[in-house]
Amino acid sequence: MDEREMIQEIQRLKKEKNAIILAHNYQIPEVQDIADVVGDSLKLSQEAAKTKADIIIFSGVHFMAESAKILSPDKKVLLPVYDAGCPMADMIDAEQLREFKKKHLDVPVVCYVNSSAEVKAESDICCTSSNAVKIVREMEADKILFVPDQNLGDYIAKQVPEKEVISWEGFCITHHRVKASEVVAARNHHPDALLLIHPECSPDVVERADFVGSTSAIINFARKSENKLFIIGTEMGVLHILRKENPEKSFYLLSPGLTCYNMKKTSLPDIYKSLLKEQYEITIDESVRQKALGSLQRMLDLS
Ligand code: 13P
Ligand code: SF4
Repeated sequence: MDEREMIQEIQRLKKEKNAIILAHNYQIPEVQDIADVVGDSLKLSQEAAKTKADIIIFSGVHFMAESAKILSPDKKVLLPVYDAGCPMADMIDAEQLREFKKKHLDVPVVCYVNSSAEVKAESDICCTSSNAVKIVREMEADKILFVPDQNLGDYIAKQVPEKEVISWEGFCITHHRVKASEVVAARNHHPDALLLIHPECSPDVVERADFVGSTSAIINFARKSENKLFIIGTEMGVLHILRKENPEKSFYLLSPGLTCYNMKKTSLPDIYKSLLKEQYEITIDESVRQKALGSLQRMLDLS
């Protein structure tokens, strides 16, 4: 089957099975183009919570598909590549979080959505990079535990200085490897460009940005800006939509290291096989799901 036939088959199967394809902004262009919804973690969670489809094909990484299942337990949620994971989400497990909480008794836990269902179940509320600052600012507590991303925790702490943020020492292997020296070099090469950065980058990169935000916030900023040149400090998958929507503007990737290997695992044939064979189904223990749902729902209620 060639690519055109495969796209037709995917469309046919989608209709026949009442399925929806959700894809993260970091997916490869062909996958983004076939998806019903492309977005950041928050938007995709919101879509998963409200869809009328029977099957959700989640083109992204494991924690995203798991969040969809937590929010929509009656749907069949499929991850097209079974080992598409997020190394940052694996940097803390439920047992480690319980130990962390014991060291800081009665301090509420805010957990980044890039985490397992078990970690969400041990947390008070979730956040994504697009609502993290708002959520922490609106919490009553003056001290919070933040897991697992230390860089996002640092960014929140600077935006909400009236609160103490105690972060777990996790990080995104893709964003954390960007160096401040690469910012200096990119600025020298493109002096008229605006620098748009994801808060998973390290503090010495984030502090040099013109704008800091989630993947969709970066895309929206570039769309609305009158500037014509941009240096993009997040995973290279966002370049597809940025260039498609803004043909008159130029986008340069801040660092060649900004490729998430796991986000690049899913191809069109994987989507096709996933729909055809209904693989790989996400399952979650019901008591864990109930508790994790509380954390996710509290986030969605505030978003
Ligand atoms: P967004 O919520 O900004 O899309 O980020 C998800 C992610 O995994 C970033 O690395
Ligand atoms: Fe995880 Fe980083 Fe990849 Fe996002 S970019 S999925 S945080 S490893």
